[in-house]
Amino acid sequence: MDPLPPVPTAAWAADSPAVLGEGPCQPPLMLVGEQPGDEEDRLGRPFVGPAGRLLDRALVSAGIERRACYVTNAVKHFKFVPRGTRRLHQKPDTGDITLYRPFLLAELRRVAPRLLVAMGATAAQALLGQKVGVTKLRGEVMPGPDQQPLLITVHPSYLLRLPDPAMREAEYARFVQDLEAASAWSK
Ligand code: URA
Repeated sequence: MDPLPPVPTAAWAADSPAVLGEGPCQPPLMLVGEQPGDEEDRLGRPFVGPAGRLLDRALVSAGIERRACYVTNAVKHFKFVPRGTRRLHQKPDTGDITLYRPFLLAELRRVAPRLLVAMGATAAQALLGQKVGVTKLRGEVMPGPDQQPLLITVHPSYLLRLPDPAMREAEYARFVQDLEAASAWSK
């Protein structure tokens, strides 16, 4: 039997419940993000903080109903560094992704979407089982786990971090295009 992956040692919101996915089974799209953020951890729901609000806007722009999609994360707890009263997001590493991968794959089998959408590098790595270049592969439908069709795009937090408004606008438009392509494929 494979040895168990190492248990992560960084600060985790491990005293709060895992933030699970939400949405219907057999949806057209299953959207997979990185990990819950501070607000998601407090509210126990995926994508309800700043990145979630941007995702909601992009879904509306792409003509996709969020409640028809299943929305989840590769990693199910918030990983952070405490700074005074704040909890600063920490990117999950390969050990974290490996630890949660069996849950994600079980979730995928149960939800059985028509198309998987990996938003960002962590989701893509978790679903493909290896690190991949998001910018190289984005927008194409490819085989994911169990030959499940998968489309990779950027994470909405990437758009929030772009300092230049013109660049942010252009990247937002590309993100919407990727979601439109996913929606068209899943029909
Ligand atoms: N970022 C994610 O990847 N997931 C969330 O639920 C919120 C922010």
